[in-house]
Amino acid sequence: MARSQWGSRLGFILAAAGSAIGLGAIWKFPYVASQNGGGAFLLIFIGFVFTLGIVMMMAEMALGRAAHSSAVGAFRKMGGKHWALVGYMGVLVGFLILSFYSVVGGWTIAYIAKSIGGEIISSDAKVLGGIFTGFISSPSEPLFYHAAFMALTVGVVLGGVQKGIENLSKFLMPALFVMMLVLIVRGLFLPGALDGVAYFLDPDFSKVSAKTIIDALGLAFFSLSLGMGAMITYGSYVEKDTSIPGSAAWVVLLTTVVCLLAGLMVLPAVFAFGFDPSAGPGLTFITMPAVFAKMVGGQLFAVVFFVLLLVAALTSAVSLMEVVTSFMIDEFHMRRVQAALLMASLMFVLGVPASLSLGIWSEYTLFGKGVFDLLDYATSNVLMPLGGVLLALLAGWKIWPQIEVQLAVGTRSSALWLPAMKLTCRYIAPALIGFVLVNGL
Ligand code: PFF
Repeated sequence: MARSQWGSRLGFILAAAGSAIGLGAIWKFPYVASQNGGGAFLLIFIGFVFTLGIVMMMAEMALGRAAHSSAVGAFRKMGGKHWALVGYMGVLVGFLILSFYSVVGGWTIAYIAKSIGGEIISSDAKVLGGIFTGFISSPSEPLFYHAAFMALTVGVVLGGVQKGIENLSKFLMPALFVMMLVLIVRGLFLPGALDGVAYFLDPDFSKVSAKTIIDALGLAFFSLSLGMGAMITYGSYVEKDTSIPGSAAWVVLLTTVVCLLAGLMVLPAVFAFGFDPSAGPGLTFITMPAVFAKMVGGQLFAVVFFVLLLVAALTSAVSLMEVVTSFMIDEFHMRRVQAALLMASLMFVLGVPASLSLGIWSEYTLFGKGVFDLLDYATSNVLMPLGGVLLALLAGWKIWPQIEVQLAVGTRSSALWLPAMKLTCRYIAPALIGFVLVNGL
């Protein structure tokens, strides 16, 4: 059977950007940046994104198109049977991520409901913090929304590659962009907001530690959807005459811009309302309602905002689901429906302890972390960078000629950057990521 293909280059870029832009940029980036002191973190993050990030993005897409197969098949076909293990690891990482990602995706649905009900429209930091903590630590409410999010994800994946993913991304990503701009402008006019801008943009290098660097690297991998095969799978659907470097550059650029906008949307509000910048995972959910409370028609804005956040999360979740289901389809010849339902049920089950670890099960910890934090840390800060190193080694040493052919399509003046990319795959990426990983552990 012929593999599905994207309808157009733009469709491919938007779908890949849809995978990348999600809770990573809008939920995780602002709180991780503010826990790590703001400006210096931002610089390090951007440094990683535009060097390793862009190289890895191109390598994954090229590998996918060269192999015409999703992660496991791609590693096996191009590298041999041992390399297939890297593909298996990617599928596992996708599975682990989606199980906690869906919990947070559920929060966005809950916040749509809470916006409609009007209960979160307040500018009192204490009240908003209380609502959020009360909600995520409740034993049943978040699970209900976690199930709803997982069901929505399955629904989109069953719509098929092109129809489901592409159509959704095309309309709603630009809407999200505009919405964020509106919120930034409103936020900047709040008294005290400029302290937040300064915190976010002014680098304070005395705050940089090994943790800052590993958090920045992990967040770069997470928010660009790298190191676990998502971009390999998406690359396998790209037509042969589409330029990969150009597409990859767009995806990286768009994602970084959304991260920046998210920072500018959340941090000024943190300072204007006196929230704690190190508040952690609740930051976006706690601060944004305070901004809405100060807007004319704030309740409507709140509903629209959380709907767009849900869609951003959904397009990312869909790509995670696609990695896991296309693996089951390609490797075990399962039907799409069966594969999606089976995997979604298993991921739902793993998401249950993740969600409960933020409430009634918070005392169960390993390495000082509960299930939710452990899944998050292990995937972003360890497994994805590790997947990136292995991919770089394969691309740089074993299959460089095939990668080079893919990257040369549709690009002029390949003379300079191709050797630089090869060097990065062979030496720089493994050395740099290896160093950060060893230090981090
Ligand atoms: N990049 C997504 C986000 O930032 O929300 C998360 C993600 C999606 C990671 C897909 C990995 C992936 F394959």
